[in-house]
Amino acid sequence: MADFESSTQGIPAADDVPRHVAIVMDGNGRWAKMRFLPRVAGHRRGVEAVREAVKACAARGVRYLTLFAFSSENWRRPEDEVSFLMQLFLKALEQEVGKLHQNGIRFKVIGDLSRFEPAIVEMVARGEALTAANTGLTLTVAANYGGRWDILQAANRCRAEDPAAEITEERLARHLSMAYAPEPDLFIRTGGEERVSNFLLWQLAYTEFFFTPALWPDFDGALLDEAIASYGARERRFGRTSEQLARAKATPLPKAG
Ligand code: IPE
Ligand code: IPE
Ligand code: MG
Repeated sequence: MADFESSTQGIPAADDVPRHVAIVMDGNGRWAKMRFLPRVAGHRRGVEAVREAVKACAARGVRYLTLFAFSSENWRRPEDEVSFLMQLFLKALEQEVGKLHQNGIRFKVIGDLSRFEPAIVEMVARGEALTAANTGLTLTVAANYGGRWDILQAANRCRAEDPAAEITEERLARHLSMAYAPEPDLFIRTGGEERVSNFLLWQLAYTEFFFTPALWPDFDGALLDEAIASYGARERRFGRTSEQLARAKATPLPKAG
């Protein structure tokens, strides 16, 4: 397992290009509605935007891209929309995993898969196994994912490991479903809503947020560049003062931990 710096325990290295980008892909339904199309047409176009996002992130040197595809609360949607989304996920897995592999991308899924049909669970396992050794971009799809679910399952795993031991930040983080990745540097949400909607609650502690009214099917490289430029212009202080940062730039701090 990779040993990444926690933003609350140490001071992570920060670069102009975010190492980890996490995106709430929102606005598919509205994109379709604007065109007098059924909501599901927006989801179909959303898959194309995913392809764009993967390509654009890989080209810019982003190492981890995490996409919120289906939340633990999205089961509340009409049954036919949920079922369409499941079929779309399955089809996308069947069509895209081979291409991801050819492009050296490591594919991961986080979330509670127990509620998914066996064909999906199997395709996910095959895709993850096939691409496990790839060293390019790590693409993580969050499906039936909830930030609270993630923290709870990690706490339960800590307890199962050693019921008597105190649960520390470090121990809990090791059991989170994205323990293989550093915390996101940049969080993007399309669709104009400015909320987290139960995405990576624990991991977003010091993430920079970028909200855009653009709808997910319209996401492209230019929008990613806008988000990255906004990110690059920010001062990530991790609790310190600007003056400390200026000093650290002149004489780099010894690496914490
Ligand atoms: C995001 O688009 C996709 C999922 C949540 C599955 P929406 O379907 O939420 O689109 P809007 O927000 O209704 O426009
Ligand atoms: C968040 O979008 C979840 C995903 C993009 C998968 P929603 O459209 O479900 O979020 P809310 O309901 O507007 O907060
Ligand atoms: Mg939405």
